[in-house]
Amino acid sequence: MKYDLKYSAAAETATYLGRYMFQYKNAELGLILDAIDDGTQVLDFGCNDGWVSRRVKRFKPGCDVSGADINPEALVKARRRKGGVEYFDSENGDLDGRTFDVVILSHVLEHVHAREELLERLATLTKPGGRLVISVPQERIRGDSTLLPWAMNVVRGRFINPHVVIVRLNALKLLLAGIGFEIELSTYTNLFWPRVSSKRGLQSHSLIVQARRIPTLHVDPVCVMESLGQA
Ligand SMILES: C[S@@+](CC[C@H](N)C(=O)[O-])C[C@H]1O[C@@H](n2cnc3c(N)ncnc32)[C@H](O)[C@@H]1O
Repeated sequence: MKYDLKYSAAAETATYLGRYMFQYKNAELGLILDAIDDGTQVLDFGCNDGWVSRRVKRFKPGCDVSGADINPEALVKARRRKGGVEYFDSENGDLDGRTFDVVILSHVLEHVHAREELLERLATLTKPGGRLVISVPQERIRGDSTLLPWAMNVVRGRFINPHVVIVRLNALKLLLAGIGFEIELSTYTNLFWPRVSSKRGLQSHSLIVQARRIPTLHVDPVCVMESLGQA
């Protein structure tokens, strides 16, 4: 999939419809915001035009919010809209060595073939004890939530599905356990009422998972020897 200006515009339009027509995007935003304490450092990875990033900054003004994306044209748009957010190219090394209290991955994982590698990278960007908030669409048939890219397929006369996989809760649990995260909360947003439910159903739109990086216990061998000697 080529992440260019056309794709960015299609994703932005889908977000718009998800906010005003189907409302699931607002329910998702609420669940994302619940995972963020004000005054923390937040990274919105795969931010596109920065709608989620700007909303986080608006509702948690004390947070230091950054956005990152693989698509330079999306970043140009996001930077133009400002909103107190700093934006980074996710691929050029600008994020190297940085860590965040909360990393948001909203509607990105289903686009990626190398999901383990992406999550391993996000783990290095998350502080020990910090959180990863992931939202992924729960399609009945892969691609049934990508209506705009489907319309683009008709125009270009070539079939490309931007979603390479449907990520279900069990698969996500395994992926997260593999990078040292435990799931604290998992919820589904729906296309119609009720907007949020604990179980997946036919009208589910997305799965939202909040996971915490398990802090690793650092054992200093010198301290252990000293305390053993004193015992
Ligand atoms: C469907 S949009 C989601 C945008 C936004 N996060 C939201 O929830 O509205 C997917 C975004 O992921 C970005 N993306 C896809 N693969 C990526 C990768 N490997 N690294 C960083 N961004 C990626 C695309 O450029 C696009 O902006």
